[in-house]
Amino acid sequence: MTSPIILAVDTPDIELAKRWISATRESIDVFKLGLEFYLSHGFGGISAIQRETGAEIFLDLKLHDIPHTVSKAVTVVSALEPRFLTVHASGGEAMISAAVKAVSSTSITAVTILTSLSQDDLSEIGFQGTALSAAQALANLAVKAGATSLVCSPHEISGIRKNVGDGVTIITPGVRPADEISADDQKRTMTPSEAISLGANFIVIGRPITSRWAKGSEQMAERAAQILDSVQR
Ligand code: C5P
Repeated sequence: MTSPIILAVDTPDIELAKRWISATRESIDVFKLGLEFYLSHGFGGISAIQRETGAEIFLDLKLHDIPHTVSKAVTVVSALEPRFLTVHASGGEAMISAAVKAVSSTSITAVTILTSLSQDDLSEIGFQGTALSAAQALANLAVKAGATSLVCSPHEISGIRKNVGDGVTIITPGVRPADEISADDQKRTMTPSEAISLGANFIVIGRPITSRWAKGSEQMAERAAQILDSVQR
């Protein structure tokens, strides 16, 4: 069974990324590499991580452009066969569908509403209604366009799950273990087990695990194992 934890490998340092992955491989199967890493090391960097660690990759590029441009960009990275590749759901149905058509084995993963946006931010951008209703509308649109995974806040999991059914993979960041004192810059967090019991298939966790690196790779491995244990109980 695939571990429900996705480690956010938020570093531009390729050697450190490999070490973090190796240290946590026993508890984690999928590793999220984002724009910071991709802009630093590109296609070759992702490929090196895959080759040297055997990790499955969540490629978090959050693409958002006209359908033709997104299709071409997705075609480039689809050769890496990441397990997940993110696009913004607000790019619209044609853009998401173009991304879906450009991959074979990768799950196109639509990001609904960024959790960094407040209700006021959303109104300013022009969204009507609540963050939840906007996220639900974007999730419905993305699934209709062929996206097979969605990223949403833990607070939107149940509202989205009830609309999209069990066939769609829901991935949520913004989780913090119950014993973690610092939420860092995350707001309105939930614990990993709460997010899973609400219907998330995967939780994205970074600093609660990666910050342990300073104390050694065993400490980091132990933290990942503890979190896995907390969701499997
Ligand atoms: O370190 P932390 O656990 O906060 O990392 C969470 C990861 O999830 C980061 O890579 C962050 O960019 C990402 N993320 C998030 N909230 C979102 C979307 C992505 O925290 N709404």
